[in-house]
Amino acid sequence: MGAPVTARGRFISIEGGEGVGKSTQIAALAAFITQHGFEVLLTREPGGTEGAETIRQLLLGGSAERWMPRAEALLFAAARSDHVDRLIEPALASGKWVISDRFIDSSRAYQGAGSGLSDADIMTLHQIGSHGMLPDRTLVLRLDTKEAANRAAARDQNQPDRIQGRTETFHSDVDIAFVSFAECEPRVRLVDASGAADEVTARLLTEISDLLEPA
Ligand code: TYD
Repeated sequence: MGAPVTARGRFISIEGGEGVGKSTQIAALAAFITQHGFEVLLTREPGGTEGAETIRQLLLGGSAERWMPRAEALLFAAARSDHVDRLIEPALASGKWVISDRFIDSSRAYQGAGSGLSDADIMTLHQIGSHGMLPDRTLVLRLDTKEAANRAAARDQNQPDRIQGRTETFHSDVDIAFVSFAECEPRVRLVDASGAADEVTARLLTEISDLLEPA
């Protein structure tokens, strides 16, 4: 008799600019999916594995000018490659659900739309690094950019990392990019992050309910 076949888990990425309440919502989402009887792995980008966390320090620390856009994009792709190969793919194959705080769409928005690289180039790096793997669902939490900036500043005690500290125009380009992904790609859903946390959670659950149904 062969080994029992385990159904592949689902992969959800959570995106959105700084200060939109991602951590709270990720915890709520994980609790809900767990209640449905699935094992959930929570992870984040850049990071998630030892190698990718080392790259994270290179990416988020240091001066604003530390990396030029192409080198930065390559480093994010390298971190993601390790993350996918060593953590995300094995977890999905064993039937776990994976929720990642950010994934490829952050590279498309920040290194692409924000820093001027083309979407095709970002996706080529992703193809090389992570065989172009895409989430089953991507939830983009959105908040008015000024409100989000105030929340992020309060959280980070006005000490933004080298990407958070970029201009308002940069962050607005990032936001516009996420909206355009949702317009073109059904897996990407925009979720209003304003109001009480449980209201936001309810909106998120609506956007993943179909994934919980048996295939
Ligand atoms: P983090 O401290 O995790 O911030 P946040 O709470 O906003 O997610 O920092 C991650 C930063 O890295 C964030 O500013 C977005 C940026 N980033 C990219 O520019 N490209 C990427 O591919 C990823 C995954 C993140």
